[in-house]
Amino acid sequence: MGALSIRIRPEEERDHPAIHDLTRRAFAPMAFAAGDEQELIEALRRLGALSLSLVAEQEGRVVGHVALSPVTHESGAEGWFGLGPISVEPALQRQGVGGALIAEVRLWLAARDARGCVLTGDPRYYPRHGFRPAPEHAPQAEPAEFFMVLSLAGAVPAGRFGFHPAFHA
Ligand SMILES: CC(C)(COP(=O)(O)OP(=O)(O)OC[C@H]1O[C@@H](n2cnc3c(N)ncnc32)[C@H](O)[C@@H]1OP(=O)(O)O)[C@@H](O)C(=O)NCCC(=O)NCCS
Repeated sequence: MGALSIRIRPEEERDHPAIHDLTRRAFAPMAFAAGDEQELIEALRRLGALSLSLVAEQEGRVVGHVALSPVTHESGAEGWFGLGPISVEPALQRQGVGGALIAEVRLWLAARDARGCVLTGDPRYYPRHGFRPAPEHAPQAEPAEFFMVLSLAGAVPAGRFGFHPAFHA
């Protein structure tokens, strides 16, 4: 990861304000952003639906964050998670921090025998991390062309995924 010295670890309570602030600032310039991504993380946490929350720390400062939450599938299939929001400190973007966070997510999923992971995101970015466009599996309310799936255990069952209700609150 170049000259950046990054440590990735699970969030602790003391990180909550920094995660909120980082997420707000990272998403602010993005045209597609709803502007409430930081509140979404807090809602997931409050509802016990933050399956995984990792921070990337540089010299004690939170410079990256990724959230994972459970998703449903029409077939009733279990073991699937939704990735996001994911944020990297704007001044440190494009130096591998986001990729390192996604790599840690993959290790976490593999360690739990998860079936896989889904997200709504930029189709130019996520394929390098194993995600493939899967419009046919997109939740009803999501833009299908941005929906992607990373399958860790064989074929993706036919049908649509559904993000946690906090995503639509
Ligand atoms: C998306 C994000 C988490 C990626 O983290 P990062 O640390 O910048 O990404 P990495 O350094 O691991 O990867 C960089 C590579 O991805 C590409 N990349 C990063 N973000 C991209 C984007 N939004 N669209 C297209 N390519 C992107 C870069 O061009 C770079 O590719 P290159 O090495 O071939 O030049 C970060 O840019 C961010 O916080 N963005 C604002 C919030 C956001 O959009 N979150 C994701 C919503 S789906």
